[in-house]
This record gives sequence, structure tokens and C-alpha cells, in this order.
Amino acid sequence: MTTADDLADAPAVVFSLGNLGPFEIRQIRALCGQTEICRKSIFAIRARSERARAMQAEAFGFRRVVFLEDGPQAVQDAITAIFEDEYKAALEEFAPLSAEAFLAGSRALAAIGCELRRLKPVRISRVAPGAEKISNAIRTEGVGELVKAVNLHHDPTCRHSIAVAGYAVALGQALDLAEEDLRLLAMAGLLHDLGKMLIPVSLLDKAGRLDYGDIARIRQHPELGAKILRMQGGVEPAVVRAVRSHHEYLDGSGYPFGLKGERISPLSRMLTIADIFTALTERRAYKPEKSPSEAIAIMAGMAGRKIDAGLLAVFRSAVLNTAFARRHPPPKSPGRPVLKEGIHPLRPDVGKPRWTVA
Ligand SMILES: [Fe+2]
Ligand SMILES: [Fe+2]
Repeated sequence: MTTADDLADAPAVVFSLGNLGPFEIRQIRALCGQTEICRKSIFAIRARSERARAMQAEAFGFRRVVFLEDGPQAVQDAITAIFEDEYKAALEEFAPLSAEAFLAGSRALAAIGCELRRLKPVRISRVAPGAEKISNAIRTEGVGELVKAVNLHHDPTCRHSIAVAGYAVALGQALDLAEEDLRLLAMAGLLHDLGKMLIPVSLLDKAGRLDYGDIARIRQHPELGAKILRMQGGVEPAVVRAVRSHHEYLDGSGYPFGLKGERISPLSRMLTIADIFTALTERRAYKPEKSPSEAIAIMAGMAGRKIDAGLLAVFRSAVLNTAFARRHPPPKSPGRPVLKEGIHPLRPDVGKPRWTVA
């Protein structure tokens, strides 16, 4: 029998009461007498005699009841609600738009993660409101608030994806890009590691040395993510392309295709910079986090060779400027959207840039 100690560290507990008798249910009730376990528990019951069972569940003091017949999505929604309750309490300390953007991004990623793992069609349309909120929050409150808030998230891939979206938008803002481009950057950030949702967390967070097979499996994620997006449809081709190319390097040493130079779109180049910076500054089971200036110093060693030097220079002055992290007002005269057309924001033939590269 499971004990309270076994459940102490679990972020959520699902009790499937469908085939349990009165004795087991009494034991579960005893476990749930502990407020902390009860708060994070979900009770899945059969609907055959739903009314009676639901009433029984409530009589036991079970707060979150789902019906097994409603399928895994009902359980997933109940788990999301537990996390959201926790996040909402903690988010009270954060700026309101960033808190809302965090919740919207997190909700979107939880929903598509659940659909993906069940091999169901993914409703990408759920991501658009999250992308919009991230873009608005960063313009009004700065990237700093969103990045602080993402640390609350229990899932490393979601935490990472929301932060990448935030930094990608911050880079777009530093370049004075149009609103539509910023939304595209937020979408690409949220979706860039979609393919990782099909890779076990135990492999993604493996502390020891990765063998050849592990590396090959992880390296499939850009193409896997792009394939899912292409199959679902309704996503801008520029975003699909950026998802597929976010690990490509200018010198052809990246993956999955070893694309070089101009074959890597401007949106992908921007996403790569946001992705590398986020990965370096976040703590993972297998590595400590770097400070922003340490991360930029490492990236400076890649500039020109692997990542776009001009974009890195703009990103560098943006993220190392504490005023920028707090707030970045909209440009006085935003230009036309360019990323959808694959135009590089730093290329002189697009028109004279209005920003200063530090
Ligand atoms: Fe990735
Ligand atoms: Fe990533």
C-alpha cells in the first residue's frame, strides 16, 4: 500500500477508484486526511453509477472528481487545474500581463502535450492566444517578469518553451519589428521543441553521458515537431520552417540537415539565439545555470561562425540592459511585417534599419 511519504514529492496524485472495493477506498480516504495530499489529488471514478459514486466521493471529502469514461483529457484538465491553482497563488507577486501570459502559454502547451502523447490531432489554434499574450506582456512589462514567472513551471520543456518565446519576442522588439512578426516569434518559441513532447523526460533530463542512440533520438525533435505542424496545418510555413531549423548553424555544423548560411531563415536565426540563451541560463538536472553575461560570452564565441553576429549584437544589448528587461515601449513607427516573407531584419536591401547595433 502506498504511504503518505511516497506521495509527498508528487506534484499531483491520481487515484483510480474504478475497480476498488470499500477497504481500499477507506485506505485512500485515510491518506487524503492529510490536507497536502488531498489538495493535489484527483479521484477518477467510473460513470456506471456516477451519481452514487460522485456523492460518495464528495462524502469522503474528495475535491476533484473525474469520470474515467471521459478519457485522459479529463484527467489532464484536472491535473492542469491543480498546477494552475498553485501557479495563480504564486503569480500574485508578478506583473499581471506576464502572469496571464505565463498561464496562457502553459495551458496551450499542456493541452497539445496531452493530445500528442495520446496520438490525437493537435489543436495548434490553442497556442495563438498564448503567443499574443506573451507578445503584449513583453512590450508592456518587459521580458524580465515573464522569465521570472516561468521558473514556477513544473515541466522543464514548458518552462523552456515559454522563456524562448519571451526572449525571441524581446529580440524582435529590439529590432523594432511589427506586431505580426512578434506574434510569429512567440508562436515559433512556444512550438519550437514540440517534437520533444514525444521524447521521455528521463532521456531529456538524463544526468549521465548520452550514448549515440540517445543523441540520435533527441536530434529527431526539430523534424518531428515540424512534421506534426505540417500534418495539422494552419501554422504559418515560416514558423514550421523555424521549428525544423532551430538547431541549424550558419557553418553547416547543426542538425537535422546541416543547412548553411542563407538557407537558414531570419526567423530561425532569431529563434536559435533565443533558444541557446535560454538553454544556457536555465538549470537542468545535468547542468547548473549560467548568468546572462556568461551566456552571452559563450555565444560571442559562436558569433559569425554558428549564429548570426548582427542579431547577437542586438540581443546582447537588449538582454544585458536591465531597463530593457523591465519594459520596452512600442516603436514609434513599426515597419511592415518581414519574417513571414523570410526577409532578414538586418539586411540592408530591406531598407535602412532604424536600430543601432551595439
Ligand atoms: Fe530544440
Ligand atoms: Fe529549445
